[in-house]
Amino acid sequence: MKILITGANGMVARATIEHCRNLGDQVVSKTRQELDIADQTTVFEFFENEKFDAVINCAAYTNVDGAETEIEKCYAANAAGAENLALASKKINCAFVTISTDYVFDGANSGFYTQRDTPNPQGVYGKSKLAGEIKVRDAYARSIIVRSGWIYGAGGTNFLSIMHKLLADGKKIKAIEDSYGTPTFAGDLAVRLRELAELDLPSIYHVTNSGDGTSYAGFARELCRIKNFDTELLESSSAHDLKRPAPRPSSSKLACLFSEKFGLLAMPEWKKSLADFLEQN
Ligand SMILES: NC(=O)c1ccc[n+]([C@@H]2O[C@H](COP(=O)([O-])OP(=O)(O)OC[C@H]3O[C@@H](n4cnc5c(N)ncnc54)[C@H](OP(=O)(O)O)[C@@H]3O)[C@@H](O)[C@H]2O)c1
Repeated sequence: MKILITGANGMVARATIEHCRNLGDQVVSKTRQELDIADQTTVFEFFENEKFDAVINCAAYTNVDGAETEIEKCYAANAAGAENLALASKKINCAFVTISTDYVFDGANSGFYTQRDTPNPQGVYGKSKLAGEIKVRDAYARSIIVRSGWIYGAGGTNFLSIMHKLLADGKKIKAIEDSYGTPTFAGDLAVRLRELAELDLPSIYHVTNSGDGTSYAGFARELCRIKNFDTELLESSSAHDLKRPAPRPSSSKLACLFSEKFGLLAMPEWKKSLADFLEQN
């Protein structure tokens, strides 16, 4: 397949570029500097000269706290930017995959969120991503929306990479016991993004590693167990204590109604993926 991957410097994009190249795809990857998805004229001009079988949009404004004040910039990438790519994909009639987030949910449901649950984002970031979902579906019926959450992987700065560094340095960390999600390895997500691009069945998908999900503290405890870090370094804490600018769902575990019914394999279990990743990092 010839695939365009946007936001090429990002964590998920890098994993997706690597996976697609390994499969032998012709990958055209574009960083924000090379293709600003918020700039409709540039996007449309770019698509006039290039044809793709699929577009996988990994570009997004992802600073959850920063979004509370950088509202325009956040919506430009996450809503207008996603819409621009959907419209451009429609023009060349190619598959279109874009990534959304577990933060479209409010956290009132302590179980797993499926596609039957109505989004109710609390912060600007989640609202902008939901706006993006709605815009791409309106713009291009062929859109595939992939909600994921708690992603970690090579090269990115994320919960895991920060915890890993601090614990390896013997520093104490505040481990939040009352926020729950489904950890997801970027490499596993990349595989599923590519599969969905090929499957080309427009819908909303929930893509996370499988298992029961966990709290941030549980995630940190599993990291300690695998890496033999001292669990005494984990100080039990509550999300409320951190006083972060953006509201976040206290629980945003995702489960997918469709993937396995559409013939896709269950995603790897999160503890297994975490152990595999940490073995090499
Ligand atoms: N990380 C998570 O835990 C998580 C959870 C749920 C969903 N997601 C979603 O997963 C997707 C990938 O996230 P990620 O973790 O890989 O994020 P990331 O590492 O922050 O990568 C996002 C990339 O998008 C680029 N970008 C921002 N605005 C752009 C624009 N207007 N045009 C083109 N590129 C732009 C950024 O470039 P600059 O750095 O140069 O600005 C960055 O390279 C996003 O849709 C995100 O919302 C992530």
